[in-house]
Amino acid sequence: MRTADLPVADLLAALRSAVGPAGLVTDPDQLAGHLTDWRGAWSGQAAAVVRPGSTAEVAAVVALCRDAGVGLVPQGGNTGLCGGAVPDSSGRQVVLSLSRMRAVRELDAANQTITVEAGAVLQSVQEAAAAAGRLFPLSLGAEGSATIGGNLATNAGGTAVLRYGTMRDLTLGLEVVLPDGRIWHGLRGLRKDNTGYDLKHLFVGAEGTLGVITAAVLKLFPAVRSRATAWVALPGPAAAVALIEVVRALAGDRLTGFEVMSRQSVEFVLRHAADVRDPFPAPHPWYALVELSDTLPAAGLDTVVETALAEAFDRDLPRDAVIAAGPAQGAALWRLREGISAAQNGEGPSLKHDITVPVSAIPAFVERTDRALAEALPGIRVVAYGHVGDGNLHYNLSKPVGSDDDEFAARAAELARVVHDGTAALAGSISAEHGVGQAKRDVLADYKDPLELDLMRGVKAMLDPTGLMNPGKVLPPG
Ligand code: FAD
Ligand code: MLT
Ligand code: ZN
Repeated sequence: MRTADLPVADLLAALRSAVGPAGLVTDPDQLAGHLTDWRGAWSGQAAAVVRPGSTAEVAAVVALCRDAGVGLVPQGGNTGLCGGAVPDSSGRQVVLSLSRMRAVRELDAANQTITVEAGAVLQSVQEAAAAAGRLFPLSLGAEGSATIGGNLATNAGGTAVLRYGTMRDLTLGLEVVLPDGRIWHGLRGLRKDNTGYDLKHLFVGAEGTLGVITAAVLKLFPAVRSRATAWVALPGPAAAVALIEVVRALAGDRLTGFEVMSRQSVEFVLRHAADVRDPFPAPHPWYALVELSDTLPAAGLDTVVETALAEAFDRDLPRDAVIAAGPAQGAALWRLREGISAAQNGEGPSLKHDITVPVSAIPAFVERTDRALAEALPGIRVVAYGHVGDGNLHYNLSKPVGSDDDEFAARAAELARVVHDGTAALAGSISAEHGVGQAKRDVLADYKDPLELDLMRGVKAMLDPTGLMNPGKVLPPG
C-alpha cells in the first residue's frame, strides 16, 4: 500500500520511527514558533515539525512525505523576510527543521574552506572560522539566528557583499536531498571544476523549492585585524554614490562596507532603540556608514579614511563626518544602522521592499519613487536604507503620522507597485537579497522575463514533478 493512502496519523508514526521521538514535534505549543515568521507577517498550520538529526534521516523524511503526497517546508532560523519558511494554512504540510544538524564537519585551513551542516547558525560559523584565524564574511542583522541552509536557500547578502560577494559567491559545494529522496553528494571544495553544469547554483536561491540543503563547503578568508569606521552626513543619495567612488579609488578592496540611511530611518532608531545617539549636533538628510578593513594589524586605515574624506570635502560631498575612535565607537555607529529594521516596527505596519538597481541609478530611483509615493499617499514616510554599495535599497514605507494602521496596510499592494514599477523602469530587480517566498510570488510574473519563468518552471518540473518541495513559494501559478 502506498503511504498516500495512509491517514496523517500513520505518516506521523512513520516519520517518528525515521527520526526518533526527539525529532518529531506535534505539540501545539512547540509548533507555534515554527508556524509564523519573526514579524508575524505570515502564519500557517502544519501536521508536524520534523527535526532530522542526519542527512540520511532527511532523505528518509523526504521519501516518506513524497510517498504520502505531503508537502515539505524546509526551515532554518525562520528569520526570512518573505514568508518562505512558513507553511500554508491547510495543516497538511510538514515543516522540516534543520535545527538538529548544526555540526562543523571540517575546517581545511590550507584549502581555506569550512564544511558545515545546514542548521548551523551563521554566527557559530563565523566564530568557528575566527577560532582558526580565518574569516567567514557573510554578515547580517539576523546572524545570531539565521542558519547556513537559510542563507544558501535565499542567497543571502548583508553588509559585506561589496568586498566578498553574496552567499552564492561564498559557496564551493553542497550536499542536497532531492525531492525524490536521493542524496546529491556535491560537497567539493574545488575552486575550479569545469565538468559541465554547475548544479549547486540551482539550489542556492531556490528557497527550498528544489530540495533540502543539508551541508555546504564554504570559502574562508584571512582574518581581519584592523578596521576603520566612519559616519558621514550627506545631502542625498547622489552624494553617497559619488562618495563610494572616492573611497574605493583610495581604499580598493579594503572597502568592506558602504551602507546608507535616510534621516527618517535614523530618527526611528533614535526614537525606539536603546544605547544609541546621533553622532552630529544637527540632523542631515542622508548618512553613509563606511567601513574599511585589512588583514594587517596596523594598516593605517584611519589615514586612508581621512584622506578619502578630505577629498570628498574638497568635492563638497559630505556635510559632516566622524571617524570612530576605536571598536566601541565603531559598534555604536553600526547600532544606528542595524537597529533600523526593528525600530520601524515601532511605527505601525512596515511595508518592506528590497530592490536593486545599478548603483549609478540609485539617485534617480530615490528621487522618482519618493515623488510618486508622496503623490499616491501624502505624508507617507519612506524608510530607505541599505547596502548602496551593491545598488540595494530597503525602500520601506511607514504610514503617515496619526493615520490608521489597517487602512495603510490595505494599500500595501498598490504602494508596492509604485516601488516595483520605479525599479523596473531603471532595469532593477524587485528582490535583491531577501528572495521571493510567498511575499512576491504573485507579482514576480509582472516583472520577470516570461522566458526565464518558463525555464524556472522546467527546472522545477524536472526535479520536483509532484511539486511537494515548499509548495506555493517562489513560482507564480501559470
Ligand atoms: P528561514 O527563514 O528559515 O528560511 C528562508 C528560506 O530558505 C525559506 O524558503 C526556507 O524554506 C528555505 N530554507 C531554509 N533552510 C533550508 C535548507 N536547509 N534547504 C533548503 N531550503 C531551506 N537577509 C539578507 O540577505 N541580508 C540582510 O542584511 C538581512 N538582514 C536581516 C536582518 C534582520 C533583523 C532579519 C530578521 C532578517 C534579515 N535578513 C537579511 C533575512 C534573513 O535573515 C535571511 O534571509 C537568512 O538568510 C534566512 O536564514 P534562515 O535560516 O532564518 O532561513
Ligand atoms: C537589513 O539590511 O537590515 C535587512 O536586510 C533588511 C531588513 O531587515 O529590513
Ligand atoms: Zn539588507
